[in-house]
Amino acid sequence: MIIFIVLSAAVADISPNFIDAKTILNQPPQQFAKSMENQHFRSKKIAKLNKHQEDISKPDYFPNTELKSKLLSKEMQGMSKELLEDHFQLYDGYITNANKLLATLRNFSTEKEYRTDRRRRLAFEVNGILMHELYFENLTPEETQPSENVKDFFLNRFGTIDNLFEDLREVGSTRGVGWVAVMHDTTTNNTYINWVEEHQLGMLVNMEPLLVLDCWEHAFIKDYGASGRPSFFEASLKRIDWNVVEKRINAVKNGMSVTRSS
Ligand SMILES: [Fe+2]
Repeated sequence: MIIFIVLSAAVADISPNFIDAKTILNQPPQQFAKSMENQHFRSKKIAKLNKHQEDISKPDYFPNTELKSKLLSKEMQGMSKELLEDHFQLYDGYITNANKLLATLRNFSTEKEYRTDRRRRLAFEVNGILMHELYFENLTPEETQPSENVKDFFLNRFGTIDNLFEDLREVGSTRGVGWVAVMHDTTTNNTYINWVEEHQLGMLVNMEPLLVLDCWEHAFIKDYGASGRPSFFEASLKRIDWNVVEKRINAVKNGMSVTRSS
């Protein structure tokens, strides 16, 4: 009787193609054993599917709270606390949206057309997180100067640090919303300054980010107004954490990737 109840409960969970509990019990011993084995695998499969449903909803990204402490613990000349707090709130929004989007894309029960359309947003949302983390990491409330090691690295491409700054300003005057990104090309071993529209357009394959500067209006409008990007950009150049840039340079020199944790 107990076997019958257990089997009935299990069979209720499975597809109509499966034989019912009564039929299983009436089978010859050898066939009965086989049916029980099938039922065992079936239950394991159901458990795995349930776990899969649980796993696909788990978040992939979590806010890096250390970055927030680093930038908000001291006064940042050229960027108010309110401006930075708003910016970190936006960063949190990218994390929420990227996690939601990734969960949707993993869920095969969501309508295919909807998933296909949402997939277009993936690079925007995920790069929205990663670009902000790179940016917050390469800013500092302290005054830092590029070391001889950093100057030497940029010598071939820019000649001097002043030339590098001129190029940064030029790219920083690009119209639109996006980022100034100093990228190291691991294929040609060269370094470029690129304009990355939004968070993802203009991202080149095999490029490692050494320094990124946010030029979206949300990065400055609170302190500088809608037309204040040039002044904000000058302030940003003074807030570059050259120690972080050097750490990234050392990573690419050693054939490593500039990752979130590097
Ligand atoms: Fe931003």
